[in-house]
Amino acid sequence: MSELALLGGQPVISGPLPPYRSLGEAEEEAVRDVVRSGCLSGFFGSPGPEFLGGPKVQEFEAAWAKRYGVKHAVSVNSATSGLIAAMGAIGLGPGDEVILPPWTMSATAMAPLIYGGIPVFADIEDETFCIDPGAVAAAIGPKTKAILAVNLFGHPAPLAKLRAIADDKGLALVEDSAQAPLANEDGRLAGTVGDIGVYSLNFHKHIHAGEGGVCVTDDDGLATRLRMIRNHGENVTEELAGGDIANMVGFNFRMTELSAAIALVQLADIENHVGRREAVARALSDGTRDLEGWTAPTERDGCRHNYYEWVARFDAQAVGVSRELFSKALTAEGFPHFTGYVAPLYQLPLFRQRKAIGKDGYPFTLTERQYEPGMCPVTERLHENEAVLFEPCAFAVDDALAQKLVEAVRKVHDNRDLLNAAGGKD
Ligand SMILES: Cc1ncc(COP(=O)(O)O)c(C=O)c1O
Repeated sequence: MSELALLGGQPVISGPLPPYRSLGEAEEEAVRDVVRSGCLSGFFGSPGPEFLGGPKVQEFEAAWAKRYGVKHAVSVNSATSGLIAAMGAIGLGPGDEVILPPWTMSATAMAPLIYGGIPVFADIEDETFCIDPGAVAAAIGPKTKAILAVNLFGHPAPLAKLRAIADDKGLALVEDSAQAPLANEDGRLAGTVGDIGVYSLNFHKHIHAGEGGVCVTDDDGLATRLRMIRNHGENVTEELAGGDIANMVGFNFRMTELSAAIALVQLADIENHVGRREAVARALSDGTRDLEGWTAPTERDGCRHNYYEWVARFDAQAVGVSRELFSKALTAEGFPHFTGYVAPLYQLPLFRQRKAIGKDGYPFTLTERQYEPGMCPVTERLHENEAVLFEPCAFAVDDALAQKLVEAVRKVHDNRDLLNAAGGKD
């Protein structure tokens, strides 16, 4: 048995893993064409055909809508912008509540605040890390306006169940599908079950345009409202709002022609980009599934998980080593990872201090809802004790390297008794 790198032995992987680069000649060519065209953005924030953006933006939106089987794809300059636009489009107003999970990127919970909405946190499922429909049902109150589900780490939230709750209670369902291109539940693509779904095209995602995002919807009215919020909607209310001008205070959330051109090329190859990441994740899961105290990611029956993040659950008691010490030994073996993901969002200063917009506590002045430690115990346990994450989208991992990653985990696990003895002396 070779000695642990942490204790002076040779690491399984020497040097950093090669970064995953998804941009190639086709993207270069596409960018060159746009630059030669002289039109880097075709948008005008006023009535007329240019309200909808330039040719590449419109071509990209049509291609995305076709690939996702939806009526409308509305491009934006980030998923953060898309989530804000979605909250505005559904008509969120001051004091309206939006039920969402606390384990997600912060933008999910910031979007409602922009309209004076109140994030209400519901705990997540132990196995898939997505919002728990039981917790959602328990959190619904008279002011609830929407459920904002997150298809976290590329695993679909329990979308059919959430759709049923939303329909039963007359709520909007919005999906934060920033991390979940091509994920699906029983064949329904994540992002297309909600009234609006939002995807990210930022640099860290399976496919990207540096920055960017897409909102999808089958609802003509919502699509128009998204387009208005994206592009100074206040200027076109007489032409487009159909009488409902609430929340048609517009932003500049517009995608450039350059980003759209890159995104178009990436979209054409999306199955390859996602598929390769899934293969790496599967190799990691298959190679470590049998380890005691180490639970490889779960895929709910009928779901496609795209493995934006590969997240194992670590049971320190069963392994006999703390997560921190195990993680230190894994790092020494050359396995890049991190623990815990993000702290539950209700622990952010803005929730603890109840201060978001302005200095006087708005919009928390409009609610009795509290943000207390312990309110989502599953999330807290996963964050504090259990989650170990690897990012398949960050690294170019071939089959041989994937086996090395497996070997690194197994080596640390096999040597855990030695590690503990040594770690205890640290
Ligand atoms: C779950 C989730 N929501 C929203 C976002 C925001 O995406 P963007 O960076 O495109 O604004 C991210 C980004 O990582 C995310 O992971």
